Amino acid sequence: MAGRDVCAALELRGETVLPLTKSDLDIVNAVAVREAVHRTQPDVIVNCAAYTKVDEAEANEHLATAINGSAVEFLADAANDVDALLVQISTDFVFDGSKRTPYEVNDVPAPLSAYGRSKLAGEKAASIARKHIVLRTSWLFGVHGPNFVEAIRNQVRNGRKTLEVVDDQRGRPTYTPHLADAIVRLAQRAHIDENVRGIVHYADAPDCTWFDFARAIVGGEAEVLPISSDGSKRPAKRPAYSVLSTERYERITGLKPESWEEGLREYLRQRP
Ligand SMILES: NC(=O)c1ccc[n+]([C@@H]2O[C@H](COP(=O)([O-])OP(=O)(O)OC[C@H]3O[C@@H](n4cnc5c(N)ncnc54)[C@H](OP(=O)(O)O)[C@@H]3O)[C@@H](O)[C@H]2O)c1
Repeated sequence: MAGRDVCAALELRGETVLPLTKSDLDIVNAVAVREAVHRTQPDVIVNCAAYTKVDEAEANEHLATAINGSAVEFLADAANDVDALLVQISTDFVFDGSKRTPYEVNDVPAPLSAYGRSKLAGEKAASIARKHIVLRTSWLFGVHGPNFVEAIRNQVRNGRKTLEVVDDQRGRPTYTPHLADAIVRLAQRAHIDENVRGIVHYADAPDCTWFDFARAIVGGEAEVLPISSDGSKRPAKRPAYSVLSTERYERITGLKPESWEEGLREYLRQRP
């Protein structure tokens, strides 16, 4: 989902892009990763590949860690070989949600789930690259993949008049083209300026709960009722509060984050 929009954002800015799908390059194959990077000699590697099934990761932590953790080490080693910048996308789920003010880039991660632990392993692996950005983001929705917006719309399409959505998890929904623009902006700077490297948070504004987000998605088409996550019985525990502070991103770029409400309007136009 994010990968397609990152490629589009790079092409729009005149960068030469080599998009690789899983069938082109399986990132858990260290030899293939090295060979692909040596052959193409990129200036920047943006890793959008991941094991993203948060609930299934509870029973498949080994596989999640191989893809989200160990494979990132292969990418970092290869990036060092060709002196490339590695951009690793990470997640608000590295935090436990015990804060009630936005998570800063230097707050200590304490993941609650197997997925969160695997992504934290990926952050550590990415830091092996001499030039790297770990870009944490949250609650992604984009037209090229299944996501919360589509899950809610599917319920309405299937005739549901009343939807129950959790109101005790707060975060920042992010439209993937907005994330893609942020990645391009940061990568272009970080490639030459070491002060722009390390951990950066990008998420759209403002923060809200899944219930608020669902209400914005359905408009007047269905009723949305707030429930607590105790009632939702999902295998992976989610942080109750995972609002990312984008203060460092704003300082680096001089820009405010985009609005997810604006992103949602564009999404609904693009994916009627
Ligand atoms: N979605 C969110 O809400 C969210 C929130 C915060 C952070 N993130 C992070 O943002 C990034 C992008 O997420 P997304 O939602 O765009 O993910 P996505 O749509 O699930 O895309 C991940 C891609 O990685 C591919 N992949 C899986 N294993 C691979 C392997 N071994 N080698 C090569 N490719 C492989 C998948 O291919 P197959 O489908 O063929 O397996 C899929 O195309 C990820 O790092 C994710 O952790 C996501």
